[in-house]
Amino acid sequence: MTYRIPFNKPYVIGTEIGYITQCLAAAKLSGDGPFTQLCHKLLQESFRAPHVLLTTSCTSALEMAALLCDLEPGDEVILPSFTFVSTANAFVLCGAKPVFVDIRRDTLNIDEKLIEQAITPRTRVIAPVHYAGVACEMDVINEIAARRGLRVVEDAAQAVGATYKGEFLGTLGDFAAYSFHETKNFVCGEGGAFLAASRRDFERAEIVREKGTNRSQFFRGQVDKYTWVDVGSSYLPGEIIAAFLAAQFEEADDIMRRRLALWDRYHAWAEPLEQQGSLRRPIIPADCVHNAHMYYLLLPTPELRNALLTYLNAACDINSVFHYLPLHLSRMGRTFGGKEGQCPVAEDVSERLLRLPFYTGLSDADQSRVVAALNDFTAAEICARADSLSL
Ligand SMILES: Cc1ncc(COP(=O)(O)O)c(C=O)c1O
Repeated sequence: MTYRIPFNKPYVIGTEIGYITQCLAAAKLSGDGPFTQLCHKLLQESFRAPHVLLTTSCTSALEMAALLCDLEPGDEVILPSFTFVSTANAFVLCGAKPVFVDIRRDTLNIDEKLIEQAITPRTRVIAPVHYAGVACEMDVINEIAARRGLRVVEDAAQAVGATYKGEFLGTLGDFAAYSFHETKNFVCGEGGAFLAASRRDFERAEIVREKGTNRSQFFRGQVDKYTWVDVGSSYLPGEIIAAFLAAQFEEADDIMRRRLALWDRYHAWAEPLEQQGSLRRPIIPADCVHNAHMYYLLLPTPELRNALLTYLNAACDINSVFHYLPLHLSRMGRTFGGKEGQCPVAEDVSERLLRLPFYTGLSDADQSRVVAALNDFTAAEICARADSLSL
């Protein structure tokens, strides 16, 4: 029996446990203590995040952003169909209607050319998602939003550390959300961060995150008692989570270096196969620097994708997985009018995409085993059948 290579394995630096022990010794376990402050500082320094708040998840950060957009029932939010449910749910919780837009064939990000035609008098927000840590066409999106008076909420769950025209993703819209879920580049189990571009929005975000109270101002001595001042919920993580995360941020450069090496190795392996038309690799536009969040392949047909998934999982003990099912075709998406054919690229790509095992601690030996298995399969299957197929 071979050892099963997982799709993901959370990377532990080793210093996390010492920081958690410090938390216990200081008897400060609730949120916004010294480790949360350290995480804010490291996020600001490393990713030039102007105003940042740690949250319990990226989902929470998206919900904060939705609350800060002051949506009313029936307001519309434009987002890609090819995304995680939280991008839509955060706004639906505020009574808004998600309007699903198709994605680009190259980056698999929202197709900015389709946004304008999706705007109606009820549109309030555009929520681009930076798929696989590759930037959406933010200049175009921000220009449309500015001209049409819309807010931009970046779902940067997968995009911590990636850039667009030299600017970090998460710093380009009005609001942004990062994820530190165990599948992401920097992890703490479940966790995230909320980012705001303006000081004014940030001050309100502090309140929304603290159950709608001005408790943060009270702790800073700016008010002599704290009270209920706005809508809100409990979005701040405890100090144990922050302690774990601080250790991860301190090693951000090393984590990124390791991930980029793994990404480059898969990418170099897949190059000849792409050249002969057997599969397609991720495409990184010239203005974008990706963060090696994941490595995916696009197979020529759903049948080949499914055959490869079965081969890797069942025959090789390698856990390779598909990704998002288009939201407009989900049970919830259909209640908002989603129909087959509405987002043809998302529908097509979702059936042909496969993600390879990818995590910071993936060893050379295990990655070599994945590549050898892929070679065995591609030699037998893809090359024989790809001639008549276009990617
Ligand atoms: C694009 C996107 N948005 C949001 C999320 C939700 O992140 P979290 O699990 O931190 O809430 C994910 C999770 O993978 C995601 O991929």
